[in-house]
Amino acid sequence: MSHNHDPLGAQQRENADPEERIRPVPLLAALITVGMVLFGVLYIFLSEPFGSPALGDRRTLADLSGPGPAAGGAVDGKALFAAQCAACHQATGKGLPGVFPPLDGSEWVQGDPRILANILLHGISGEIEVAGQKYQGAMPAFPQLGDAELAAVVSHVRSAWSNKADAVPASLFEAERKASTRTTPFEGGAALKALAGGG
Ligand code: HEC
Repeated sequence: MSHNHDPLGAQQRENADPEERIRPVPLLAALITVGMVLFGVLYIFLSEPFGSPALGDRRTLADLSGPGPAAGGAVDGKALFAAQCAACHQATGKGLPGVFPPLDGSEWVQGDPRILANILLHGISGEIEVAGQKYQGAMPAFPQLGDAELAAVVSHVRSAWSNKADAVPASLFEAERKASTRTTPFEGGAALKALAGGG
């Protein structure tokens, strides 16, 4: 048995090399696509999604903003203290020695509510003595808070920790706002005491 080398025969037994051919999109797929596009365009033009008042979000701004503090909801003085005052006076109300004076045990907090109201409405910038220690810092004013909010936060600090002073009414802030023409912070403890003397 001899080996018969027959290159030509081997070549003829091979499949032809694959070649790329142009294969158009099947007619059915093309028709379905065109049909879907036409349906979408017609749907948009024939329906009136913006004209129907039954569709969409119909809540008004008033619905979304919820009841304001004036709407009878009780204002949370403790939450206001945490948000507005605790950064400086600390959650414990003890302040930071030499920097922020304490509210806990402070004679200003438990004293004349008028002075306290004016501290919050106008701020302080100057020397003030609190519980036997002198401070020389700056306390921002909070005129942007409403009368009910200021009354709530002041009432909270007057009765929090070891403090045992009465709550103050929102009308106090309303009256003090009207009574004062001051546009700058109090120059310190002396200016605040003069306020009490001046009636
Ligand atoms: C940015 C820091 C800061 C914030 C916020 C702040 N205070 Fe003060 N507060 C001070 C400083 C500082 C003084 C002392 C002012 C000075 O030295 O002239 C002071 C003084 C006071 C005093 C008089 C002194 C005392 O300790 O009793 C009261 C009352 C007071 N703050 C209440 C409040 C209340 C209530 C809030 C929140 C609504 C508040 N403070 C928010 C910094 C702050």
